[in-house]
Amino acid sequence: MTTPVYAVENLIIDLYTPTVSVRAVDGASFEIHPGETLAIVGESGSGKTVMTLGPLGLLPEGVAIDMRGTARADGRDLVAMSQSELSAMRGGEFGVIFQDPMSALNPMLKIGPQLAEQARRHAGLSAADARKEAVSLLARTGIPDPADRYDRYPHELSGGMLQRAMIALALAAKPRVLIADEPTTALDATVQAQILALIRQIQKEDGIAVVLITHDIGAVSVLADRVIVLYAGQIAEEGSAIDVLTRPVHPYTKGLLASVPDFRSEISSGTREIPGLPPNQTKVEPGCRFAERCSIAQPSCLARRPTLLPVGDGSVLHRAACPVVLNAQGVAHQ
Ligand SMILES: Nc1ncnc2c1ncn2[C@@H]1O[C@H](COP(=O)(O)OP(=O)(O)OP(=O)(O)O)[C@@H](O)[C@H]1O
Ligand SMILES: [Mg+2]
Repeated sequence: MTTPVYAVENLIIDLYTPTVSVRAVDGASFEIHPGETLAIVGESGSGKTVMTLGPLGLLPEGVAIDMRGTARADGRDLVAMSQSELSAMRGGEFGVIFQDPMSALNPMLKIGPQLAEQARRHAGLSAADARKEAVSLLARTGIPDPADRYDRYPHELSGGMLQRAMIALALAAKPRVLIADEPTTALDATVQAQILALIRQIQKEDGIAVVLITHDIGAVSVLADRVIVLYAGQIAEEGSAIDVLTRPVHPYTKGLLASVPDFRSEISSGTREIPGLPPNQTKVEPGCRFAERCSIAQPSCLARRPTLLPVGDGSVLHRAACPVVLNAQGVAHQ
């Protein structure tokens, strides 16, 4: 097993606004290795973005943050870093692509110079070499006529092309981890497939680690090596994509997969919504956060927070935080 490029341990993130406080991430641990694609799935509001971008200092403005735990990359802990150290880390170690390209690109500046500046800053290139690098990044991300596109403003590019330009920007500093937060949600189906194929190609060519946050279970099945299922800020299940998607254990994972049209006929006999709503995360209850919505919940589920336990004989990394199912399978002791 390689050394992880990014390792998060016992991460707790509380967000405070003038009116509300929310425990957005509640004790999550995960790691990612070079060349691996880790997908993070879960309903809207489950904490995917805050868990992934929070340690990088990329959270919405106007929210006070209390972050605990560790998030280690390159031997250093991001949780303990200043904003300027984090900014250097984001440019170098981490590349981020967002749902909205305009959150990364400056609308007032031409595309090419933005890329060139990023490449110059992180690789110490001369102005001429940075320009060449920017054109080659545009070409690499499949932007036709890259020398011409270099001098275009963001508003002159289509949505798919802008997404490609943002990927080029994320790659300009040669990151070891590429984080993609719902990179295709705003695009039409054909362009979605092209962008996912591009991410996969880059991942293969560069051997970088990719964290893919998505609602798209189809994309998970195509791209991901491993999956984390997040529910109300806690990891409900994790394992290889094949194990989690085809042999889900946690009732929440089963519900999530059953709500995907035609994902897998054995799981989804017709599409079903998970009944109820995610819990109010302003109160931190002691038990399982999914218990209220769970058809197999027992009184003990409300009393004690379930921890992640191995599924099966533990020979593969597949863990679920549901002692009810695991005890029924005769493998959990909690
Ligand atoms: N700006 C904010 N102000 C207050 N609470 C916030 C803010 N951003 C996120 N939260 C809260 O933090 C929790 C986690 O949100 P997060 O955005 O990480 O969810 P998500 O899983 O990424 O959802 P989505 O799929 O909709 O992007 C939610 O309870 C959300 O309400
Ligand atoms: Mg999000």
